[in-house]
Amino acid sequence: MTANRFSFYEEALQHNDPLWSDDLNAWLIFRYDFISHFLKDKRFTANRKKEFFEKLNIAEEEKQFLTSFYSKWLMYMDAPEHTQLRRKVQLPINKINARITEISQSAANSVFSRIPLKEGQAVIDAVSEIADPFINNVMADLLGLSVKDYSTILAEATSAVDFLWNPHPDHSHIQNAIASIKKTYRLINEIIDDERFEEDRLFDCVLKSIGTHQESLALIINIVIDGHEPFLSAIKTFMYFFIKYSSENPSFLDSLPIETFAEETLRLEIPFPYCARNANEDIQIGSKTIKKGNRVIFFISAGNVDPQQYINPSCIHQHSHKSAPLTFGAGSHYCAGAVITKKSLAIFAKSFQKAFQGQNLSQSKASWMDTFGFRTLNHLTIISTKAAEIPSYQEESNIVNKLDESNLQA
Ligand code: HEM
Repeated sequence: MTANRFSFYEEALQHNDPLWSDDLNAWLIFRYDFISHFLKDKRFTANRKKEFFEKLNIAEEEKQFLTSFYSKWLMYMDAPEHTQLRRKVQLPINKINARITEISQSAANSVFSRIPLKEGQAVIDAVSEIADPFINNVMADLLGLSVKDYSTILAEATSAVDFLWNPHPDHSHIQNAIASIKKTYRLINEIIDDERFEEDRLFDCVLKSIGTHQESLALIINIVIDGHEPFLSAIKTFMYFFIKYSSENPSFLDSLPIETFAEETLRLEIPFPYCARNANEDIQIGSKTIKKGNRVIFFISAGNVDPQQYINPSCIHQHSHKSAPLTFGAGSHYCAGAVITKKSLAIFAKSFQKAFQGQNLSQSKASWMDTFGFRTLNHLTIISTKAAEIPSYQEESNIVNKLDESNLQA
């Protein structure tokens, strides 16, 4: 599938029913209408890691430590515990939503003031010079932490959750995860003890809003891990599409608000392509019966290009759609950071457009990292030339997919 994800989706979307995969031992669902309906169905459980932890060949104490940490991980929780914890985290997030425009603008100003646009040609590493510093600044400021503390938590917490993606982690992998969780807890406790956080930002608000200390720590890690990578990915993807359209069809970019363009890039490229659930009872979908205990993989990135919902699904459209894209999921687990991401991306998009006004943009070394559960640009170089000095670079994309065939909407 990852060799040519979008062609695979196109074919899969021609089947009306869910497809069973022996390899994945799961039902695969691609249709928009099934996904938007059944992700809200309470007969599916989000707690699909219970068995994973039960089967780990480790000491009981270690098992309990991991289970307790992940029992507070929103994405793997069910009602009523999920509803209660989600409510508690949503309050601080709603509060910070009011500050996101100012936070994002300040991060964008800082990033773009450092981009050297000389008279001649500038070659810019869009990942390390733009996307990384922008997201680090926004996330750190959002939480009210220094970029250094934020980056340390991110690095340590990433190793803590890394083993979840491996269906059969070995002993050392598990021990590393446990050590990383403990180290991340220590780091956060140190920040609390030294009062290295700003008042009324997310870190502070979570500490105040969540009942137990242990829950607060797990939630802070949860926000950092679930937020950072997809948010970063959204910024990279926006730049990719902006440059693509500005070099291939510049008048198109003038024909729609930049915010709409940015939202469309969120529909077309999703970093986490699916949401997984387990059936708590037999559930009929189309003509297939999903048996109790079966795993179901809802491919939200396929739903977003379902031709039953979107005309010319792989093109950027000039107007918002009747069917809201599934980028941030659906139902009770709908992304807690969706508003933050959309507002921040809109500010970034405007600032990017302004920063490169009067420049001809092209890209080289655009390459995608595409695994079953994660897809993102890992390289993107921008070549910016003062208008009228057009470079002869050709984009080198490692993946030729549906979106790469310049199939732009007139
Ligand atoms: C483009 C950026 C983002 C995308 C595409 C995205 C996508 C998603 C999706 C699809 C889910 C639902 C998963 C499921 O139902 O199994 C989710 C949940 C979540 N997201 Fe995001 N996310 C993004 C940014 C963020 C940010 C910036 C934050 C935090 C600041 C965040 C925090 C969360 C949390 C805490 C959850 C769990 C919600 C719950 O289970 O109740 N996300 N995200």
